[in-house]
Amino acid sequence: MQDSISPTLWQPLLTTRRLGRAINHYEYTLTSTNITAKELAKQGAPHGSICLCECQTGGKGRLGRVWSSPEGKGVWISVLLRPNLKPEQIPLITFCTAMAMSRAIRQTSGLDARIKWPNDLVYDGRKLCGILLEMVVTPQGMAVIAGTGLNVHRGAYPDDLADRAIAMDEVCAAPSRSAIIAAYLSVLEEAVAQLEREGFAGIAEDYRAQSITLGSQVQVIGAATLTGFAEDIDETGALLVRTEDGILHRVLAGDVSVRGVMGYV
Ligand code: BTN
Repeated sequence: MQDSISPTLWQPLLTTRRLGRAINHYEYTLTSTNITAKELAKQGAPHGSICLCECQTGGKGRLGRVWSSPEGKGVWISVLLRPNLKPEQIPLITFCTAMAMSRAIRQTSGLDARIKWPNDLVYDGRKLCGILLEMVVTPQGMAVIAGTGLNVHRGAYPDDLADRAIAMDEVCAAPSRSAIIAAYLSVLEEAVAQLEREGFAGIAEDYRAQSITLGSQVQVIGAATLTGFAEDIDETGALLVRTEDGILHRVLAGDVSVRGVMGYV
C-alpha cells in the first residue's frame, strides 16, 4: 500500500531509546489501538510498546465519542507508557503527547498546529488531531495508554464534520505517515523524560508556547458553563479561567471552546 505505516519503514528513522523499539503491534484493522494496547499492557508489554493500524472499526474519542478512523487516511496509534511519575503527575502526559504530535507535524510538514486545551491539535480553526489518554492496572503497575488520531489525508473524518475538522493534505503536501510516526515517537520520548526529570516545570513553557487556548476568550461546558479569559495552566494541568467578575476558576475537565476555533464565534 502507498504511504505504508509498517514498522519496517518508521523504525529505522527513530532516534528513541525505548519508544517504538520493543513490541510493535501493527495490524491492518483493529477495533481500537487503545483497546489492543491495554491488552498488551496487561500481558506485561514494556514501556514504549506501540500499537497501530490502517483502520479502526471502533475508534474511541474523548467523552465516550466515536473517532472516525478510515483505512489509510490517518495515523491511528497508541503508545504504552510505564512512566516514572507520581500518580498526580500522570495526567500531564496528555500535554507531552499533544506537544510531541504538534512538533512532529511542524517538523515533517511545516504546519503550525496549535494545542487546544487540554490536548486537541487544531489548524486554521479546525481539529487536526485528537488524543485519548487511558490508564490501566497491570501486574507491573499502572500503565498509561496514549492514543493519538491524526487526520493526514482527505476522507479521514466524515463530511458532516467539515466545518470543525481538517486533514493535513487539505493545507499542505502531506508527509509520509511513517515520517510523522518516527518524529512523534522521538519527540514524545524526550517530552516524557523531561516531565520525569523536572515535573510540570520541565514541559510548561513548551506547552504554553504551543497553546491556542491561553490568552483567549473561552467557553467551558462542564458541570457548570462559564465564559472567561484563559490565563494559564497550573501544575496539575488545570486550566485557569478568569470570569468577568474577576474570579479565577480551575477547570479540570469538560469541553472548552476557544473563540474563533472549531465553530465557536
Ligand atoms: C478525541 O476525542 O479527540 C480523542 C481521539 C483519539 C483517537 C485515537 S485514534 C488511536 C487511538 N485509538 C482509539 O480508539 N482512540 C485513539
